[in-house]
Amino acid sequence: MKKIIFAIFLCSTLLLASSKDNTIEQKIDSLLTLMTLDEKIGQLTQYSGNYETGPSAGTVKNEFQKLVKEGKVGSFLNVHGATNTHEMQKIAVEQSRLKIPLLFGYDVIHGYRTTFPIPLAEASSWDPQAVEKSARISAIEAAAAGVHWTFAPMVDIARDPRWGRIAEGSGEDPYLGSAMAAARVKGFQGNSYGEKGTILSCAKHFAAYGGAEGGRDYNTVDMSERTLREIYLLPYKAAVDAGAATIMSSFNEIAGVPSTGSKFLLTDVLRKEWHFDGFVVSDWTSIPEMHTHGVAANDAESAMLALNAGTDMDMEGGVYRKHLPQLLKEGKVSEQTLNEAVRRILRVKLRLGLFADPYRNASPEAEKKDIYNAAHIAATRDVARKSIVLLKNEKDILPLKKEIKTLAVVGPLANNTEEPLGPWHQQGRPSDVVTVLDGITKTVSSDTKILFAKGCDIVGNDTKGFDEAVSIAKKSDVVIVVVGEAAEMSGEAASRSSLTLPGKQEKFVEAIQATGTPVVVVLMNGRPLAVTWIAEHVSAIVEAWFLGVQSGNAIADVLFGEYTPSGKLPVTFPRTVGQVPYYYNYKNTGRPMDEKQKYNSKYIDISNTPLFPFGYGLSYTTFEYSSPRLSASKITKKESLKVVVDVKNIGRRAGEEVVQLYIRDEYGSVTRPVKELKGFQKIALVPGEKKSVEFTLTPELLSMYDINMKWGVEAGTFKVYVGTNSVDVQEASFEVSEL
Ligand code: BGC
Repeated sequence: MKKIIFAIFLCSTLLLASSKDNTIEQKIDSLLTLMTLDEKIGQLTQYSGNYETGPSAGTVKNEFQKLVKEGKVGSFLNVHGATNTHEMQKIAVEQSRLKIPLLFGYDVIHGYRTTFPIPLAEASSWDPQAVEKSARISAIEAAAAGVHWTFAPMVDIARDPRWGRIAEGSGEDPYLGSAMAAARVKGFQGNSYGEKGTILSCAKHFAAYGGAEGGRDYNTVDMSERTLREIYLLPYKAAVDAGAATIMSSFNEIAGVPSTGSKFLLTDVLRKEWHFDGFVVSDWTSIPEMHTHGVAANDAESAMLALNAGTDMDMEGGVYRKHLPQLLKEGKVSEQTLNEAVRRILRVKLRLGLFADPYRNASPEAEKKDIYNAAHIAATRDVARKSIVLLKNEKDILPLKKEIKTLAVVGPLANNTEEPLGPWHQQGRPSDVVTVLDGITKTVSSDTKILFAKGCDIVGNDTKGFDEAVSIAKKSDVVIVVVGEAAEMSGEAASRSSLTLPGKQEKFVEAIQATGTPVVVVLMNGRPLAVTWIAEHVSAIVEAWFLGVQSGNAIADVLFGEYTPSGKLPVTFPRTVGQVPYYYNYKNTGRPMDEKQKYNSKYIDISNTPLFPFGYGLSYTTFEYSSPRLSASKITKKESLKVVVDVKNIGRRAGEEVVQLYIRDEYGSVTRPVKELKGFQKIALVPGEKKSVEFTLTPELLSMYDINMKWGVEAGTFKVYVGTNSVDVQEASFEVSEL
């Protein structure tokens, strides 16, 4: 009976959805018959309304308002705030001929005003629910301010930490990256379009923007279709499957074809294979940049290539507006292609419910209530502590006692209110930031003496402040040294050729370490850093990334044991920049690394292991793993396999552990990575508690692109690894047979 009721429910939901879809498509049909060419192209046109940068910089507000009245613009980015969006929207829905509402986009990357940890930090939580919540809160705040659409999540895989935009993504792994992509899409968009407190998401930058040669932003990408599909495309696919409303094309070329003009990516893969029916927005001027790339002789050709490939909306390029009328006349772009692009954009606007409610509950009152409120601040503190990774803790120096007598807090980031916001902090304010010094001061006992000295700047050669910091370090029981990068050293156009601490900071840590007082280094940074000397010398290292407005509280929670760290690295930390690109899921080669022999794949001047491997992170307690148990030693290609492992907390504190499962397909028609993450679960255990963690390896998870680029499972032997990071694992193996 239950099954029948469920079937009836499912059928009626599907019918309702399809009748809603039909209504939307009919509404679009009728709009298309009414629209002039200018109005159609208007829907494809997006300008930046902050009047500051880009080709439309200097455009005054009333020029934009005139365009809106004439139906010549469909969307703005960088217009936000209930009053500003309301003003523009009112013109669109009251004064333009067809009253088509505008769509307001904004880069809500890790918070609107309540700034959450940067995405790379949040990925370190390995906690998709926490990440979903962070996106949900960001959506609530942005929606109150009249924003309809965020240009997030960024789901680009990054294997090269020189690339500054590694900070905006979820690291190097497609499986973890896919989980984070789906969580963020769900968080921004909620369960259904138009739900209160939601905004549209935009998975970006399609595709493989993170594969830039040399880690230099915007640079050339060249890779095999196999690597593209198996590593780079998976998180975009996960975002599409989770319902991402829009996709942003990327700046880069892949094998000679700029993504914004790639029919293969935008039509064949995205629409035909993945059945994506939202719209594609270009990246900022990436359409006219196809001329600079050298595939279009002029802007008109760029516009033609982009629209024909499947780029629906022109972000700030201005070339659709300028050139599409002539291109249509010449037959270089068909009316049908234009209509299809307009349809996709209108579809998303209709799905969001903009025609019925163009202001979507945004108001100054909603802003007051929903933005930066106590619940949101508490939530960001919670996500921030989960995002911290404990990298070293010699002799259990951490957690510190709150009753510690004298504590030195030093370093350029110890009392800094700007940098913890990280890149893309949007409406986040330095005045909202709790610094490490603030957080510690609030946490320690009233008898504890705290001594502070900045010591040096993040950049530059000035060492004049060293002496003061050294002298207070000498007087203290423990020194907390907070060092790292400035926020603007990661994010867009912020590639670095070095991965060491900038300026004199490493020398500073050396000077503090030389005092003999135990040292805890807290790192704030937007990328993995090659902090080899520090890793070898200081007692403890806490990787705090950029944690947003609650940085200091979250860090103090970890330093003093209010929270037991549970984060794990979503990227490999190399020992030196010379090792990059360096990632855990590499290929074995015919001569795998062996430091005792000469003629194999390694560097002769450094240990070839990473400084900290993918998946790595310590706790204040200890977890004991049993060997993995498999449900069978042999399965067929169509069967799934269960893997069970017992994990016990054998330490003295409650804690959370991220149990990780990797596989290796030993021999294939093409070579396979030495390890591939295929499952993880975050579990909480009190001392003495044991839990069995079960994973299911489905045929989909065991599949690969074979020698003929066919997706499927190949028969043969597989290894399974389960453990606390990608290196410390226990293994088992099983066979997959044809039948
Ligand atoms: C970035 C995008 C961003 C867009 C709009 C571009 O420069 O690459 O990630 O969404 O600007 O701000």
